[in-house]
Amino acid sequence: MKNKVTTLYKCKECGYTSPGKMGKCPECGGWGTFEQTTIGRSQGFSMSTPISAPVPLTEINNDTKKRYSTNLTEVDRVLGGGIVPGSVILVGGEPGIGKSTLLLQIADSLLKEVSKASTNDINKTILYASGEESPSQIKLRANRLSISNKNLLLTFETEISSIQQMVKEYDPCVLIVDSIQTVYTNSIEGTAGSISQIRETTQILVNLAKRNNITVFIVGHVTKDGNIAGPKFLEHLVDVVLYIEGEKNSIIRMLRSNKNRFGETGELGILSMKEKGLMPVSDPSEVFLGKLDSSRSGTLIFPSLEGIRTLFLEIQALCTQSFTPVPRRVISGSDFNRTIMLAAILEKRIGVSFIGLDYFVNVTGGSRINDPAADLAISIALLSSRSDIQLPSKLVAFGEVGLSGEIRPVVGAEKRIQEAQQRKFFPIFVPSGSISKPSKNSSIIEISHINEIVEKLK
Ligand code: TYD
Ligand code: MG
Repeated sequence: MKNKVTTLYKCKECGYTSPGKMGKCPECGGWGTFEQTTIGRSQGFSMSTPISAPVPLTEINNDTKKRYSTNLTEVDRVLGGGIVPGSVILVGGEPGIGKSTLLLQIADSLLKEVSKASTNDINKTILYASGEESPSQIKLRANRLSISNKNLLLTFETEISSIQQMVKEYDPCVLIVDSIQTVYTNSIEGTAGSISQIRETTQILVNLAKRNNITVFIVGHVTKDGNIAGPKFLEHLVDVVLYIEGEKNSIIRMLRSNKNRFGETGELGILSMKEKGLMPVSDPSEVFLGKLDSSRSGTLIFPSLEGIRTLFLEIQALCTQSFTPVPRRVISGSDFNRTIMLAAILEKRIGVSFIGLDYFVNVTGGSRINDPAADLAISIALLSSRSDIQLPSKLVAFGEVGLSGEIRPVVGAEKRIQEAQQRKFFPIFVPSGSISKPSKNSSIIEISHINEIVEKLK
């Protein structure tokens, strides 16, 4: 059969193809990166013999994979109980947040754990491929963390076939690649860190993990908007996506899983960056809450559900007279548009105006809330600061606010109430209907519309 030759234009950076030449690549945004290329396309069907026969579902073994504990409780919690051999774990976070520190700690902890294992099922070395830092920098960090383990092998190779070769030779149980933006393959064009290189090297690492049954940790940089840099499908290729979050100048670091093929997402690990690395935090709410001894305006507590835990966060708002032509709205820790919407609902439904006022909303400790259950707490904080209403020092509130100002029920109400009561927080503002039978406990206050807030605070 004749081959038909088609002329195409291909982006050197990311491999995007187009029938016509383009100035700017729609995939990676590169300028002048298109080159002419030809492809031969055979017409019609061609039959090839499959390599393996399909297997009936009933004949596939229930191979519940063994997990290896990292011995770091907060990390195990987020991973769903430990690491699964053959899995690929992507770790993202801003520069300096603690990715390399955490991975070095995980490596050391895992080595201690597997050295105890009596079986020979697992190899007892870990290969750490670092393209980011020099040997002496890593040594310095290891000294700081009091890590000294001869089974932790370091390499500064960044060409992927050399790393593959080393895996073949040393057969480690875990491979750590720090970071994916520094490794490259000679088999395709483009510099390390370009989209096509990231795509190709990740694919090679995924194959390596599955074929050799080793766990691969891949460090990924994040872009300005907080996503892992590179093609979005990077996250589809791997089994687990972890993010390390937190404010640079706070010591609290949060480990969150965005995707986990072997466990639940939504679990949160809380660590604090100490002199000797990242340490688990046993009572996270204590680090997020300030002193709760006097009443103040604009500050209250929101019970946030994070996996199986309830985390108590402080929500603060500050409204001040604006001296700029366009008043400022500075929002950190909650969704910008949703917060603006809540201020608009307060204006429309209870007539408090934010005209000529700057407002600032903050969730303390560098935490981030993506839960509409925080609506009521944010609205109360804004209203309290705007109208100088003193709030009880241990006031807790949760509930979703609808556009007409109604307070809607949210998931996990019982759990939030129960844990707030255990901590002796009161009063607790909840959406009406959240408690099955009217409680004798006067600390729970049901609220059905935002126009009841002021009345119920009296
Ligand atoms: P690092 O792991 O290098 O971050 P990343 O790999 O995400 O870029 O973390 C660097 C920061 O952590 C640095 O600012 C110093 C701090 N740090 C500690 O506070 N304690 C420690 O024990 C270590 C190793 C680092
Ligand atoms: Mg690093």
